[in-house]
Amino acid sequence: MHIKALLTQQIEAAFADLGLQGSAVIQAASRPEFGDYQANGVMAVAKRAGLNPRDVAADVIAKLSGDADFAAMVSAMEVAGPGFINITLAPSFVAPSLATAIDTCATAQTVVVDYSAPNLAKEMHVGHLRTTIIGDCVVRVLEALGHTVIRQNHVGDWGTQFGMLLTYLEDSGNASDKLADLENFYRASKQRFDEDEDFRERSRRAVVALQSGDANALQQWQQFIDISMSHCQDIYDRLGITLSADNIMGESAYNDDLAGVIDALDSAGLLQQSDGADCVFLDQFKNKEGDIQPVIVRKSDGGYLYATTDLAAISHRAKRLEADRVLYFVDARQSLHFKQIFAVARAAGFAPEALQLEHLPFGTMLGKDGKPFKTRQGGIIKLADLLDEAERRAAALVREKNPDIEPGQLAHLAKVIGLGAVKYSDLSKNRTSDYVFDWDQMLSFDGNTAPYLQYAYSRIQSVLRKAEVDPAQLPREAIAEDEPERRLAVYIAAFNDVLQQVADEGYPHYLCAYLYELATRFTTFYEQCPILGSDDAQRTRRLVLAKSTGIALQKGLDLLGIDVVEQM
Ligand code: ARG
Repeated sequence: MHIKALLTQQIEAAFADLGLQGSAVIQAASRPEFGDYQANGVMAVAKRAGLNPRDVAADVIAKLSGDADFAAMVSAMEVAGPGFINITLAPSFVAPSLATAIDTCATAQTVVVDYSAPNLAKEMHVGHLRTTIIGDCVVRVLEALGHTVIRQNHVGDWGTQFGMLLTYLEDSGNASDKLADLENFYRASKQRFDEDEDFRERSRRAVVALQSGDANALQQWQQFIDISMSHCQDIYDRLGITLSADNIMGESAYNDDLAGVIDALDSAGLLQQSDGADCVFLDQFKNKEGDIQPVIVRKSDGGYLYATTDLAAISHRAKRLEADRVLYFVDARQSLHFKQIFAVARAAGFAPEALQLEHLPFGTMLGKDGKPFKTRQGGIIKLADLLDEAERRAAALVREKNPDIEPGQLAHLAKVIGLGAVKYSDLSKNRTSDYVFDWDQMLSFDGNTAPYLQYAYSRIQSVLRKAEVDPAQLPREAIAEDEPERRLAVYIAAFNDVLQQVADEGYPHYLCAYLYELATRFTTFYEQCPILGSDDAQRTRRLVLAKSTGIALQKGLDLLGIDVVEQM
């Protein structure tokens, strides 16, 4: 059930009946005294028609009150402020959705999601955490809504640094155990590269060998990539990220398409030479001085660029994968890059008009000091170390609450709580802002955190256990009678609205805010509406509400990639 869509439809139909036109702009009410939803569009509609907004609001209410469908949905409407309409939903209308089934979309799309994409020259570090966690949540939501999702892990597995790495690997006798610590390996080879002229020269030759398809070089490169990728897969598995080897479509996969990209740009009349390089000049990319900034697609030495590969990828996604929509979860610092390649792809016909191309940027991860998140020594934080620390801290927390806990149980809880906290604290912030990584905040049992929601879930399960009912035997529906019951039911019913919003806009924090508010409404309900001591019908009704809240919390957290436990 999509409450917002239903209300929008009805109110806009009422506008039309009144000879008016415009959007209803339905929003969840910000305070209980404003009802459950507000229609905020009346003012603009009235203004355009030269009418008094409060009069128009009253006319809309009068029209809708006579409509049987609408009357079944809504129990009260009133004009508020300068011309808002406050809407209160009928208990019988929100009751059927207590089963919290996810409605699949009527128009399923093929959505390509480009996320994670670490550079395989190094080990995965905190810089890849946000794209990986946020991308995976949106993938889960899209799939739950019935879309066909094609994950594309556009890993950085090609480029000049591999010449250096392979030469260093060769010098160390091709001992692949050296790659167990990729970070050290990278640092050591870079140092060698900077200090040793002969090494530099051999590295350059290795790049040429690799690029010209030399079998030996390719085999060594493949070995390197496989090991590096298995580091990443360990992290994915540990974090419950749904990426696998099947989703890897790295930069190197497009090598054979790059010459064709240049040809196609040329045939489209888009290619121009500048200082020996092949470039595309598009009017919309002017700098402050009014000069057009070119998109370089081939350097004067014949080398291709990151942009060229991305153009090949767009073409692949449009033509081979037949995508309707492509989402890129990539750092905000690459915004200009994506604007440019999207524009070039459109101009060259790689991306048809109907294909939606969306860069969904995110900000930088900062430490508590407001500076980019680093180790105490100022080094890059490896993801594996960060996740170890999360589990360690969560274990300490659990032990504090429950000193006698059995070790297996402790390890399990530490993982669920620790990793859940890391994910949730990222997902719950608006992704476009920079985000401050703060252990104490994310592991707190108060406020908008994973432990709070996990605890809320386990508390509901304990209520159900204490009630000694089989949850499966409870009726599917419960029509609220008391106001805290009704407010909880209304919110459970809004579950599908929020999923739709996450799918449309790619902001997981909407879902987090929803779950937090849901848990808060449950708490109010639980305080004001005793469950266990009440009479039969009331007790059943309230148990159904509790059970449904638990289902919504569990499903919602699952879509965020976070687990729950029955007991905490
Ligand atoms: N490997 C790149 C980086 O770490 C991200 C790739 C994003 N995807 C893309 N199609 N460009 O910056």
